[in-house]
Amino acid sequence: MTPDLHNGAGRHMSPPKAIPAEAAIRVDIVSKRFGPTEVLRGVHFSVARGETVALVGPSGIGKSTVLRIVAGLDRAFDGEVQRPEAVAMVFQEPTLLPWRTALQNLTLVHPDLGDARARAMLARVGLKGREQAFPRSLSLGQQRRLALARAFAGAPEMLIMDEPFVSLDPELAEAMLGLTEELIAEHRPATIFVTHARDEADRLASRVLELRGAPATLSPHLI
Ligand SMILES: Nc1ncnc2c1ncn2[C@@H]1O[C@H](COP(=O)(O)OP(=O)(O)OP(=O)(O)O)[C@@H](O)[C@H]1O
Ligand SMILES: [Mg+2]
Repeated sequence: MTPDLHNGAGRHMSPPKAIPAEAAIRVDIVSKRFGPTEVLRGVHFSVARGETVALVGPSGIGKSTVLRIVAGLDRAFDGEVQRPEAVAMVFQEPTLLPWRTALQNLTLVHPDLGDARARAMLARVGLKGREQAFPRSLSLGQQRRLALARAFAGAPEMLIMDEPFVSLDPELAEAMLGLTEELIAEHRPATIFVTHARDEADRLASRVLELRGAPATLSPHLI
């Protein structure tokens, strides 16, 4: 490993050189098109291990597109992304395996996890006693907690969340936010998440990145 080469926070105008040596995620999207439409142009940022960054911007600007590129789900773009191997994603709608139990949703995705640790993780998110339940028999809030448990069960080095708390009632959103905060503090992944809620960004993130314009570009600013 190279020694710590922190450049300070104010150098974001020259992204490739200003990236700290310990950056876990490094994103250089030169351009992203859907057919003739250029959606993104010049989206450059990095996220260090243990850092949480919020990605904000109006609906339709390209936030989910950026996350899909960062996660490696969309490779049809001009540019480069460096990411760690252990990646976990939490989507707005929980993407669970419908014909598998809550427990299997963890153990099938993480074969090395083992039954005991999977059960402990379920208990951690308040699903003790629901190990054998199928996703469709769980409430939306429970499904989301299961998705969160699945994400963290893999001890991710990078966590990507696309509006994970949207359209939950305030109490549940608060519980999920608190749980996410705890799990992030324990595992210290490099985290990037999309939100429309300023209070979520303020609470979880140490930095807010804002997409603007058409094609969208990134104007980083510190909060
Ligand atoms: N698979 C696709 N094919 C064509 N166009 C797409 C595709 N996916 C997204 N787009 C377009 O790219 C733009 C950005 O979409 P994206 O889903 O990234 O926006 P967003 O910022 O996540 O919006 P929201 O806040 O509503 O979720 C939109 O104009 C959308 O219509
Ligand atoms: Mg989106």
